[in-house]
Amino acid sequence: MSTPNKEIVVSGIRSTGNLHLGNYFGALRKFVSIQDDYDCNFFIADLHALTTNPDPDQLHANTKSILAEYLAAGLDPEKSTIFIQSDVPEISEMYLLLNMHVGIGELMRTTSFKDKARKALGIGAPPEGESDEAFEKEIIGATTNKRVNAGLLTYPTLMAVDILIQKASKVPVGKDQLQHLELTRRFARRFNSFYGVDFFPEPTDFEFGGAPVKVPGLDGSGKMGKSEGNCIYLVDEPKVLRKKVMRAVTDEGPQAPNSPMSEPIANLFSLLELTSKPEIVTSFREAYADCSIRYGDLKKQLAEDILAITTPIRERVADILADEDYLASVVRRGAERARERASKTLSEMRHIMGIRKF
Ligand code: TYM
Repeated sequence: MSTPNKEIVVSGIRSTGNLHLGNYFGALRKFVSIQDDYDCNFFIADLHALTTNPDPDQLHANTKSILAEYLAAGLDPEKSTIFIQSDVPEISEMYLLLNMHVGIGELMRTTSFKDKARKALGIGAPPEGESDEAFEKEIIGATTNKRVNAGLLTYPTLMAVDILIQKASKVPVGKDQLQHLELTRRFARRFNSFYGVDFFPEPTDFEFGGAPVKVPGLDGSGKMGKSEGNCIYLVDEPKVLRKKVMRAVTDEGPQAPNSPMSEPIANLFSLLELTSKPEIVTSFREAYADCSIRYGDLKKQLAEDILAITTPIRERVADILADEDYLASVVRRGAERARERASKTLSEMRHIMGIRKF
């Protein structure tokens, strides 16, 4: 809620499907825990979701289900401003204005752009140490049926706008978003110095109790993510969830005391650390160190500890989703509040840039 003395926090999640454990531990859990102490603004990034050209009905359904999952996980519309990005048209206008100060080179060098563009073009990463020239040529030469859309390139501008339009100073996100946050600071600094104003604050990552999180997948390597197809969803039924965990990739087991862990096993332990009690983690670590560990037991424990977190959320989601009037009232109020500060920032920004009324 807009409170003058509290620091402003902004964060969002794209509406590309149900929320998974990466979204939960990287973002949503933090959102819920800071609602009393900050001026919190949490939204559903449906415009960002458009960068991957979703089916229209699916986009709407995803936006709605994420809203229900936000509320089921404990986001409280009495404490936080909860809104849908596209309900704040000031964001789209500011996106156009801010783009005038963003370089296409810096956007093309963004890791997430390179990953997504590669996926769109169906090309792999260059071998270690090799230049990305071929990739740049591919993008410029791409044909109409195999193209990288401009929205994907300017994704970081839109994200910077979400943050700067609310003049936020803190942004709770997972590790994968830190580069976007760095760009946001750069764009804010550049705007301030170009116009000789002290207008945008430079937002920082919001961490409490440790470093930014990267929740791994259970398929052996890399992070948990929708495009990686390795997600455990908050709304997964217990049977499905247990099956996913029991199928997690492992290795042949430690061959000697105190062996280093392979990536799949280290990933299982990372998840265990996020979901289980410290004494449970310690006992499995000891069992690994003395080679008595049974991965089946570890997975069973992990599945139950994940379920202890997700079950109350899953059970609330269905009821919330069924109450269309409630959902509509939450986002109507949220948009009103978000637009108050957004319209002020935008009109000041227009003035600074010389777009003024006669
Ligand atoms: P998105 O939708 O990809 O992810 C939403 C949030 O979940 C976090 N996350 C993870 N954290 C740890 N481990 C993982 N495996 C994992 N997977 C996802 C992300 O870090 C993120 O915090 N660009 C953003 C959405 C956005 C936004 C913003 C965020 C748009 N505008 C303004 C903050 C402020 C995104 O794509 O998140």
